Amino acid sequence: MNSKTVHIKSFGCQMTKLDTALVTSALKEAGFSLTGSEKEADVVLINTCSVRRHAEQRVLSHLGNLKHIKQSRPEIVVGVIGCMAQRLGSELLEHDAVDIVCGPTQIPQIAEFVTQSLQEKKKTIAITEKIRRQTSKKQTLALEKFESVFDADDRQIPNQTFVRAMRGCNNLCTYCIVPYVRGPEISRPPAAIIEQIKRLADKGVKLITLLGQAVNSYKYTTCEKTYCLADLLQMASEIEGIEWIRFVTSYPAEKFYSEILKAMADLPKVCNYLHIPAQSGSDKILKAMNRNYTADKYLELLDKARDIVPGIAIAGDFIVGFPGETEKDFQQTVSLVQKARYKNCFIFKYSPRPGTTAEEKLQDTVSTEVKKKRNIELLAVQEKISDELSKEFLGKTVVVLVEGLSKKPHLNAKNGENRPQLVGRTATDCIVVFNGPTSLAGQFAKVKITKTSPLTLFGELA
Ligand code: SAH
Ligand code: SF4
Ligand code: F3S
Repeated sequence: MNSKTVHIKSFGCQMTKLDTALVTSALKEAGFSLTGSEKEADVVLINTCSVRRHAEQRVLSHLGNLKHIKQSRPEIVVGVIGCMAQRLGSELLEHDAVDIVCGPTQIPQIAEFVTQSLQEKKKTIAITEKIRRQTSKKQTLALEKFESVFDADDRQIPNQTFVRAMRGCNNLCTYCIVPYVRGPEISRPPAAIIEQIKRLADKGVKLITLLGQAVNSYKYTTCEKTYCLADLLQMASEIEGIEWIRFVTSYPAEKFYSEILKAMADLPKVCNYLHIPAQSGSDKILKAMNRNYTADKYLELLDKARDIVPGIAIAGDFIVGFPGETEKDFQQTVSLVQKARYKNCFIFKYSPRPGTTAEEKLQDTVSTEVKKKRNIELLAVQEKISDELSKEFLGKTVVVLVEGLSKKPHLNAKNGENRPQLVGRTATDCIVVFNGPTSLAGQFAKVKITKTSPLTLFGELA
């Protein structure tokens, strides 16, 4: 047992949150203890994201703070792990604050690197040189072992966790850095995934979210058969204790789409929720993004989803200000959002990522001002739709899986000591805030909706 303490910060997407949970378990297994206080930690690890410049800037400014902390406590070890470590490699290692640079493929060795760094005080870097080459068998096995030995129970939200279905991505959307930091697409063996979910269920996990950058393209061939995501959903549904199953993110393509939606319609445990980013409503821009569909084709996919799964909640992502996006292109995006009637969508301002096709071949023509303006306009269009959809819940009773105390004080607060504000989500990912006992965290509850806002439903325990 060593008595060193570790503080871990996580800046990325769900994949990265899952990696953070795995790294946490690995370090605990190696005898480290976790601390919430960065100032007192012997080791500070930052798990990072490269998807937009802003995400990286936040990490760099944090490293600036750590440099100051290190001036008074030079013995602390600082490690940057994840996507930004892979992207920047030795450039990051040169930063005064940084001792360890460890890419997403190398995280199974993280405990080893930290121990070494504490003992020997020398800088360590471990990233993949030719990231778009097929991941070696050895690396895949190491990742698989790491993943299955250390069951990720994300302690932040009781009784729910992410489960990786796939690693990497092969879509090569021209704006996106993910394929260059996460490597080629690999589907995990279904047996390993199902075993893992069973173990998680034994620990009380009720909701699992299967992860993949284009999770609907999950495909794994054994000597007996080829498994698709629908098969995984079916097998996961049979596991006792698992009550809800979600999967993100879906790529708008026909492959396996009907099978997956049929599984959603037929299997009560599979939540009626689809996160299916469109990115743009202009065919010209979609083509330049290397998204292999048109706006019409995309809307057809949504119609099909609503046909097969009535009441399905759909969420989307958009990038505004992609190179060459004119006002006309943008208005086509607005029109798509109006037709799609998303429950909610995430809107991002285009950020050129070094090494991607868009950054190398296309000029970032849309000014920051115009990007901002389009972002605000699109958000307003979506907000109106979200508000209308939220209002349909008024007076209805919904089932939520309770996450815990709600972070923000909300308007309907009733400051009763034993009934603080709790937050939960419906199967369709609607956020619900209500007063109730904290013992409900991690449990299902019925809430009657009495008030709504575009992104939050408010109610009373039924
Ligand atoms: N694999 C998922 C999401 C990956 S990144 C998918 O394909 O849907 C999450 C979101 O970030 C993307 O959907 C996209 O909307 C946005 N994004 C990716 N690269 C970006 C960039 N260079 N600038 C701005 N937004 C970007
Ligand atoms: Fe990036 Fe496209 Fe892959 Fe999503 S599907 S991770 S946007 S390359
Ligand atoms: Fe996720 Fe960001 Fe990496 S979106 S996969 S943490 S680049």
